Amino acid sequence: MSIHKLSENVTAIMVQDWDRRLFDELIPLPHGTSYNSYLVRGSAKTALVDAADTSKEAELTGALAALAVKKLDYVVCNHAEGDHAGLIPALLVRYPEAKVVTNEKCKGMLHDLFFIPEERFHAIGDGDTLDLGGRRLVFHIAPWVHWPETMFTLCPEERTLFTCDFLGSHLATSQVLARPGEIGDEAKRYYAQIMMPFRPLVKRHLEWIQAQDVGTVAPSHGPVHADPSFIVGRYRDWSSDDVKNEVVIPWISMHGSTDRMVKRLVDALIERGVEVKPFRLTTADLGELAMAVVDAATIVLAAPTVLIGPHPQGLYAAALLGALKPKTRHVGMIGSYGWGSKALEQMEGLLAPLKAERLPPVYVKGAPSEATNKAIDDLAGEIASRHRSLGILPA
Ligand code: FEO
Repeated sequence: MSIHKLSENVTAIMVQDWDRRLFDELIPLPHGTSYNSYLVRGSAKTALVDAADTSKEAELTGALAALAVKKLDYVVCNHAEGDHAGLIPALLVRYPEAKVVTNEKCKGMLHDLFFIPEERFHAIGDGDTLDLGGRRLVFHIAPWVHWPETMFTLCPEERTLFTCDFLGSHLATSQVLARPGEIGDEAKRYYAQIMMPFRPLVKRHLEWIQAQDVGTVAPSHGPVHADPSFIVGRYRDWSSDDVKNEVVIPWISMHGSTDRMVKRLVDALIERGVEVKPFRLTTADLGELAMAVVDAATIVLAAPTVLIGPHPQGLYAAALLGALKPKTRHVGMIGSYGWGSKALEQMEGLLAPLKAERLPPVYVKGAPSEATNKAIDDLAGEIASRHRSLGILPA
């Protein structure tokens, strides 16, 4: 846990979780994470913006004690997920006068998740203001980044925007302020895994932020952005419709047939000037895979058949891609089977949320033959041609 004065009236409490390696038992956290709270002191009232993960009660309450917070008037909840709201019940016990300030949707979720009673809430709506005395908190409802209740809190006098998950990064670090050259990958990993499925909303909320007078973005994971232009610019790129001349190939093979097809495709794409990022699903970091599909123009999923359906790793990758909904323009599938297969149908079912054009599949019975090699080469040619049409591969 570390305490940092961002200004005379705003203090960051950054509870580091150095050793956490999975979020939701799903998302890899190679560099841990942090849960940030922000203490905003006005002349009349004191508010804490966001709490911390349930497992970090000693750290958060210890920080508040170190800051001599005898009375807490408000706990602002920007997001009901447990890594930020999990300690609100403990804070309400410690500070019996405190009210939870949040929107109606979040209020219902906090009640469902943490049994916070009605009388402890102070409900706000979009644009409402809370006056702390010399410092105000203004609330902006920003749904679906990444839950339906998410919101931002702006302190106009400090030109500071508290965005909770949005613009954050899963990174345990002693750095208080983000160094733009160093935070890019962690921020992209976070965007890919958490925000990418909500790209249209991301764009809308970025526009709102850009219309405000914001000098500091203070997220509740990772370092603070003292110059928001870097992170806002990166989010604009990632959430734009622009794609890169790249093909991502998540792949798995059992007896080598699909492996040979993947190698053929990789070489054929490279020959045609297309960049390739293969990910062997048995060993790949799924966070790296998620990052790769943020702006790749094409994804080709390669998986053989086990019994009648796709190899479970192929099924898993299809489910992951369908959930993350990258902006990729083309999706293809290749692989092999022994005697029969429903693999394409089953993977397609999970990939359905991707609104990308489908490439002709190459799915072969037995080992890849010369005809298979030609079909793979044709697929590479088709991808290169489409990338040229998009203007991302020179003619
Ligand atoms: Fe950091 Fe959606 O919680």
